Amino acid sequence: MLSKRAHNFDVDLDYINTYSVNRALRDPYDAKTNPNGIINFGTAVNGLMDDVWLNRLQEIQPYKADKSHFRYYQFWGTNDFLKSLSTFMTTFFKPWNGEISIDNLLVFNGALLTLDLLGCLLGDTNDVFLCPSPAYSSYFHACVQRWDIEMVIVPMKVADAKGGTELDAYFKLTLDDIERVFAEERDKGKNIRAFLLNNPQNPLGKVFDKSLVENIMRFCQRNNLHLIVDEMYCLSVFDPETEFQSVLSMNTDDLIQPDLLHVIWGFSKVCF
Ligand SMILES: Cc1ncc(COP(=O)(O)O)c(C=O)c1O
Repeated sequence: MLSKRAHNFDVDLDYINTYSVNRALRDPYDAKTNPNGIINFGTAVNGLMDDVWLNRLQEIQPYKADKSHFRYYQFWGTNDFLKSLSTFMTTFFKPWNGEISIDNLLVFNGALLTLDLLGCLLGDTNDVFLCPSPAYSSYFHACVQRWDIEMVIVPMKVADAKGGTELDAYFKLTLDDIERVFAEERDKGKNIRAFLLNNPQNPLGKVFDKSLVENIMRFCQRNNLHLIVDEMYCLSVFDPETEFQSVLSMNTDDLIQPDLLHVIWGFSKVCF
């Protein structure tokens, strides 16, 4: 279920794991504790300024600098950081199975770049991602401009809903509309790969309810689509009447298989 592009990377990943700095990071030489470990001759680092840098950086609180930060470290996040993140996310996302472990986390340089990465790994040129609209415009940049994926919008339509808030009445996302747009694309012979859901939503500030999100998970499973859920604003829901529930807090066992579900969150919108 990965893109052809991602399968091509597989070959390179083998190469990288065998020959690159990753191997030395996983099994570093130490005269006493790991005499058969690997010495990295592949990168040159100038350590002459280490003491100066360290003194300077230790002035910054509460950041606790140490010399290991001046070298290459685990590209997928240091263990200390992954552990803190696991505690943070377990507290705030309330995972249904009790914990978001470090094995479930991958750290990347920002939420948008994470979507860019998913675009690269899940879609090939002219493949389709479905996305409710109006939508955060950089999604188009990340997937369309960078990876030639076709972003097909599912319009959130003026609904005939009576009552509810104005947002409910004017921008309604329904499973019927999702199914309709999916069928139209499939009938055109398109290869539909993913559904991109932003919840809470930018630009509308809308929070989709749990039953719709569950139905979207079932829809993706039925049609073998990846579901990318961007929960960037999950800590920015301030209306006491509005209940947001992360997909991580829903029991997804009977809804969608884990390797089809990807959740994005980042620090740039944290509010307390
Ligand atoms: C919905 C949504 N996702 C992702 C991002 C990008 O986040 P980052 O700054 O971490 O790349 C934004 C930024 O505005 C956003 O609104």
